[in-house]
Amino acid sequence: AVGQARVSRMAGAIGQVQVATALRQTIVIPTFNERGNIGALLDRLAAVLPESDTEIVFVDDSTDDTPDVIRAAASTFPIPITVHHREHGAGGLGGAVVEGMRLARGAWIVVMDADLQHPPEVVPDLIAAGLRDGADLVIGTRYAGGGAKDGLSDGYRKLISGGSTLFTKLLFRNTLLQVSDPMSGLFAVRTSSLQVDELRPLGYKVLLELVVRNRPGRIVEVPYTFQPRHAGESKSTMAEGVRFLKHLAILRVGAARTRMLAFALIGLSGLLPNQLALWLLAHVAGVHYLPAAVLANLVAVGWNFALTDTLLYRNRRHRSLAGRMSRFFVLGNADLLLRIPLLALLVDGAHVGVLIANLMTLVTSFVVRFGILDKVIYRA
Ligand code: GDD
Ligand code: MN
Repeated sequence: AVGQARVSRMAGAIGQVQVATALRQTIVIPTFNERGNIGALLDRLAAVLPESDTEIVFVDDSTDDTPDVIRAAASTFPIPITVHHREHGAGGLGGAVVEGMRLARGAWIVVMDADLQHPPEVVPDLIAAGLRDGADLVIGTRYAGGGAKDGLSDGYRKLISGGSTLFTKLLFRNTLLQVSDPMSGLFAVRTSSLQVDELRPLGYKVLLELVVRNRPGRIVEVPYTFQPRHAGESKSTMAEGVRFLKHLAILRVGAARTRMLAFALIGLSGLLPNQLALWLLAHVAGVHYLPAAVLANLVAVGWNFALTDTLLYRNRRHRSLAGRMSRFFVLGNADLLLRIPLLALLVDGAHVGVLIANLMTLVTSFVVRFGILDKVIYRA
């Protein structure tokens, strides 16, 4: 066999315009080092999917030979398989799924994991439910009507999973009213209802992104039991948890306000090194409190710079380190030039109480500094 994968890719390239949605369904499967799962996954899919009208699209970011394993299996497989390998894995799991959606030619797109935590036998049920109920989106759920999450290894993971689901449902209570499992990685979407260009998923939660940004018409759910992983191990890490919180914030309040929120939190965290340095200098080392306060402010500005530069604007470091740092420090101290006269103006001129006035100058300075940071020092 020459390899059906190659043949089908050629057919896809030639017929792309005419057969834009000629297929009934595309199964999109993201893979990251899943070589041990491909065989079992394809066997079980072949047993439940029709041979015609269907295609399987793998979007692969592996560093092992998973794509070769898929291509080898594809050569004798009854259903056309495409492997789209990406060198840099942009956007991680979410980016891979969105890329698969762009490549899909089916009237329905089913998204599922490769590790058999999503039983392949459920896939036909998803599409059948969608057709029967005239839905745009069918979600495989672990939380309703007979669904279960047996595959979540321990109590700790169950707690995290249940807790973050509850939190997410609270944040988006109107949008997620009829969605019991917004974190599900198993779902089917009607291609005509999809606006792929609206989707900018960050990390794992593609379904949440889709529900919030695309607002699909009718949503139905199909219960299933989440299985233990077949082979290999989960690719999710601690960093994924942080990315998830960022994703929630961006979806809820927008990207710009999320940056401002993060800047405020970093600023707040700077109080700690500031006070600590002041205490060390003034009380332990016996330095006069005024120069001590100026030095402590410097320590806090350094702390803020380190966090801002690595956590907040890592992707916008267009200037050199020296360029970014010098500007940041000027901004952090110009702060005093702005705040002191403003404070005097408020207290002596407008007779505002000292504490309230101080707070007002801090807020003013925060907004001004964030504006300069976001629009000048780290311009997009
Ligand atoms: N292409 C690509 N790129 N695929 C990836 C990447 C990536 O960066 N990271 C993970 N994958 C693939 C894996 O190979 C697997 O097929 C699937 O995405 C899920 O990855 P797992 O590492 O097994 O995730 P999980 O089991 O922790 O989480 C799954 O279940 C959660 C519900 O508990 C996912 O489906 C989540 O979306 C879901 O919320
Ligand atoms: Mn998994």
